[in-house]
Amino acid sequence: MINVSVTKALLADLVVAGYGLFCPGGELTKEQRALCASLQVPVDQLFERAAFTGSVGSTLNTFALHNGQLVNIIFVGVAKDASSPDEWLEGLRRSVGALARAAEQLKVTDLAIDLPVFPDHGVSPFDGAKEVIATFYMATYHFQQFITDKKRKLPEDYTLVLKTHASYDEELEQGVEWGKRIGHAVCQARQWCDLPAANLTPTELADTAAAIAHAHENLTCTIYNRSEIEKMGMGGVIGVSQGSTQEPRFVVLEYIPENETKDLVALVGKGVTFDSGGLSIKPADRMDEMKDDMAGAAAVIATMQAIAHLKPNVRVVGCTPLVENLPSGSAMKPGDILVHYNGITSEVKNTDAEGRLILADALAYVSATYNPTVIIDAATLTGACAYALGPYFAGLMTQNRELEQRLIAAGRHSGDRLWALPFFDDYKPAIKSDVADVCNIGSSAYRAGAVTAGFFLSHFVPEKMPWAHLDIAGTSFNVPDRSYYRPGATGFGVRLFIELLMNWQTFAS
Ligand code: BES
Ligand code: ZN
Ligand code: ZN
Repeated sequence: MINVSVTKALLADLVVAGYGLFCPGGELTKEQRALCASLQVPVDQLFERAAFTGSVGSTLNTFALHNGQLVNIIFVGVAKDASSPDEWLEGLRRSVGALARAAEQLKVTDLAIDLPVFPDHGVSPFDGAKEVIATFYMATYHFQQFITDKKRKLPEDYTLVLKTHASYDEELEQGVEWGKRIGHAVCQARQWCDLPAANLTPTELADTAAAIAHAHENLTCTIYNRSEIEKMGMGGVIGVSQGSTQEPRFVVLEYIPENETKDLVALVGKGVTFDSGGLSIKPADRMDEMKDDMAGAAAVIATMQAIAHLKPNVRVVGCTPLVENLPSGSAMKPGDILVHYNGITSEVKNTDAEGRLILADALAYVSATYNPTVIIDAATLTGACAYALGPYFAGLMTQNRELEQRLIAAGRHSGDRLWALPFFDDYKPAIKSDVADVCNIGSSAYRAGAVTAGFFLSHFVPEKMPWAHLDIAGTSFNVPDRSYYRPGATGFGVRLFIELLMNWQTFAS
């Protein structure tokens, strides 16, 4: 639990266990100086000795006595200038992460945070407060429910007092509310990913989605079970799941806005609760990471939960095929041919390229059922994408320029950044099959495994329908050197989707 309040009181009048003082470029405000003076902290000497310049993500800790009580002071560097407000915000996130780490280490859970003056950096107080709070949630998330030694557990409950100087309280308080929702949703998605496959099966994730919908008047949820999935003709979902004793589920969440709107956005998330590779089995090394192969589905479900509260002015459908991909006597075999929801057939040359097989059915299903204005899918689809772009950008494939531009901008602003991959017909022949309509792996001559996977998916979306594919394989877990992440899942996509939907403008093209 994180409690947040906003105050204009003098820092020195607050009764807290610690202060987090943002100082852009190492510069202190008059009030920060006055606080240091009253606590007898020789701040200039301190900065000089530690060569603290207040750069992004740096912190400097000291302590003092405040009315006879120990009080920790954490100076937090943050950029004075940045090439753009979005860049400055990303720096702010890293600084908030560093502050949270310092507080965690010092065991200070009751903290007054002296915010920077956001408009000085071209950032609205709403965005500034939203990012501080969402990032604080992200930085203090830990997957420790299976750790029994209490001494090893890190604090999860914080009381924050945000100190503001200007007259923008209302905007700032709304930012705090949004930040809480977003931060909670991101951590929710991370928790589903971090849960072992034994603790989060397709059935359990589907039941969780249903429970979320049940708790919100503006959400509905439909769950299809194995026999229904089979009857609907989703050969991909059936094929991938048939090696496991865990039944597949196909989940459809719908968000209904208060006012009628023309546009409908469909979000589709890959939900492989464990990907062993199937009969084309993966190497043992790091196979455990494949409990996260449902990160796309987690991002979609967590987004639906957040928007039920934040209430964007657009209809949203979230659709997740949920399966476990295991080898067994009943498993799908290399050489098998599947018939998908839209009748298109695929040759399974490699059972480890399973994500595209279940997404094929989901994409065809949402296009035919909802005729959406746009479709966006998120999937931990290819190791090739993780190698191409690394952990800081997800791959984006779309042929719709308007959607591309909106997604890239939402990515930059939210922190879930995207980089476009080439989507040109040159790569299309890579997935030709001699025995079916398409083959589930690209011919090796074309390499570009992330791009050929995107081409496979394109067969399941009507040609003219605006559609974007996000390959989040590299960004969904174990992202290094980010103060607001830990080893484990990141919740990538949640902030992006919320940003996109909350600013939705009628889609023209
Ligand atoms: N879930 C994996 C992709 C993946 C790999 C995600 C590493 C995150 C980290 C996917 O199902 C897969 O196995 N893809 C294969 C495709 C290949 C067989 C064409 C891959 O990338 O090796
Ligand atoms: Zn796989
Ligand atoms: Zn997979």
